[in-house]
Amino acid sequence: MERILVTGGTGYIGSHTIIELYKKGYEIDVLDNLFNSKITVLDKIEEIAGKRPNFYEIDLLDMDKMDKLFEDNKYDLVIHFAGLKAVGESVEKPLKYYENNVGGTINLLKCMQKHDVRKIIFSSSATVYGEQPVAKLDETMPTGLGITNPYGETKHVIEEILKDVAESDPKFEAVILRYFNPVGNHPSGLIGEDPNDIPNNLMPIIMKVSRGEIKELSVYGDDYPTSDGSGVRDFIHVVDLAKGHVAAIDKMKPGVLIYNLGTGKGTSVFEMIAAFEKASGKKLPYKVVERRAGDLAEIYADPSKAEKELGWKAELTVEDAMRDTMSYLNSL
Ligand code: WQD
Repeated sequence: MERILVTGGTGYIGSHTIIELYKKGYEIDVLDNLFNSKITVLDKIEEIAGKRPNFYEIDLLDMDKMDKLFEDNKYDLVIHFAGLKAVGESVEKPLKYYENNVGGTINLLKCMQKHDVRKIIFSSSATVYGEQPVAKLDETMPTGLGITNPYGETKHVIEEILKDVAESDPKFEAVILRYFNPVGNHPSGLIGEDPNDIPNNLMPIIMKVSRGEIKELSVYGDDYPTSDGSGVRDFIHVVDLAKGHVAAIDKMKPGVLIYNLGTGKGTSVFEMIAAFEKASGKKLPYKVVERRAGDLAEIYADPSKAEKELGWKAELTVEDAMRDTMSYLNSL
């Protein structure tokens, strides 16, 4: 029975991944500092999966507590979600992002090395591709060029650190998963994207508008060279994303494997608004404003490598994500 430490496990993607890991019979421990999540997620995980992870409220920067955790527990694998992820905040507070995301990951890797844990799956992001000449992104493309924010830079730096650690240690096994745009939630409606901070991303903002917590959605530009002028992204259901992590475990081997996790399909902001209105049965108030600095017109995944090598393919649609989002909103 493999024992997995999930850092950031009370977060949006971490909690959904734990549900899928439990289906495969893994034993799970969660490390989280609860900065941007709530401990009550553990109750929901137990309600859905019938099992409750051991929880350790630890900050990755607390090396003493990290060391004791690895001293007391023998892990076969670490799945590393913990990190700050607000793109806008990262521009205002770069040192906070480099210290937390990069410094925290270095602490984690040092603990793993000291305690002979040599397998890690890392939650990366399509943002590491920066600006590319085409919209459809594959893993052969260069990264780190034209990344427009420190958040994205931290993901890129951590990827490079993992590659260098693998070079130095032939027994080290890493999988880098580059997420496109995660949306939706578990169909039970019990868990979902519920950030403590002010969200940056489209769907949590749409959710807050629909609950009246934000007056209207600001659409950041309708003059892009896209189908309807609004931005186009690859919105992937978080349950499909979670399953991608499980699929990666069985394929791990010495070295670094890198996969895009996306649907391979682009959806525009206006199409997302229409899909949400269809699922909710009511109009969503929005206004078109100027473009957001750093935004690209259109990006979506080429997911063929994950399909070929992991046997994983996204199966759920934006409509499924909107349906499940409504279940979550109605449960709040
Ligand atoms: C999506 C589209 C916006 C908000 C970022 C990170 C990436 C990952 C996902 C963490 C764009 C438009 C958005 C709003 C809008 N982060 N939009 N009004 O920028 O594609 O990716 O989040 O894992 O690493 O880079 O996601 O949801 O912010 O934007 O019009 O209030 O929605 O312009 O076209 P993005 P997003």
